Amino acid sequence: KKVVAIVLAAGEGKRMGSGIPKQYMLIKSRPLVYYALKAFENSPVDEVILVTGEDEIEYCRQYIVEKYNFHKVTRIVAGGCERYASVYCGLKAVNQADYVLIHDGARPMINRELIKQCILNVMEYRACVVGMPSKDTIKIVDQRNYAIHTPERKTLWQVQTPQCFEYSLVMNAYQKLMESGATNATDDAMVVETYAKVPVKLIEGGYDNIKITTPEDVRIAGSLMKARKVLRVL
Ligand code: CTP
Ligand code: MG
Repeated sequence: KKVVAIVLAAGEGKRMGSGIPKQYMLIKSRPLVYYALKAFENSPVDEVILVTGEDEIEYCRQYIVEKYNFHKVTRIVAGGCERYASVYCGLKAVNQADYVLIHDGARPMINRELIKQCILNVMEYRACVVGMPSKDTIKIVDQRNYAIHTPERKTLWQVQTPQCFEYSLVMNAYQKLMESGATNATDDAMVVETYAKVPVKLIEGGYDNIKITTPEDVRIAGSLMKARKVLRVL
């Protein structure tokens, strides 16, 4: 069975507010997206498709893929204006696959063990996404930030990536999404929940599988990486 990872790095990083897109910010002297690519390189996935900005393709080829010898990266393609559009670009760039693992390039803490779990689970469930039970109580608010509803916490999970699917299942769902013209899809599970008839299973990733979104996340990732290195040495 052929497993392809799609690594997303076509965002602008507006919430980070750094001059350059956050996926290229240096963390421990490597561009942020390096860490996810390295994990997939060392995992059992067969191929990796890197989705980035049109103007960043050459930089990625030269200064990331060639520099660090990421042999599994077979294609670097341009993404779109929103995450879902970039995912669709990645899906269209897949030559042939039985399963795809869609991962945010801004989640550097992904590792080989979690990737292996993803592969085992997607083979069993056909659609599975990584997440963790919400630690905080979550409120539904109105437009002026007044609380209108409090869903029961134990029914709430925060979703992460990888989000993993049978390729034909997710490709069909995305084709329907694009035909519908909807622009509200913030994750891939949502697209599959809406347009496919296979239930999406949630599997536990880890509370450390964070997405680098705002400046404080950079500091958190730095200490998580340091802690992991210490554990490896022990
Ligand atoms: N992404 C993408 N194409 C887009 C938007 C996002 O490939 N048009 C990717 C980002 O590069 C990131 C992942 O999707 O790896 C998660 O998105 P997010 O954290 O929202 O990143 P940005 O959109 O870059 O940040 P912001 O929303 O703050 O602008
Ligand atoms: Mg975004």
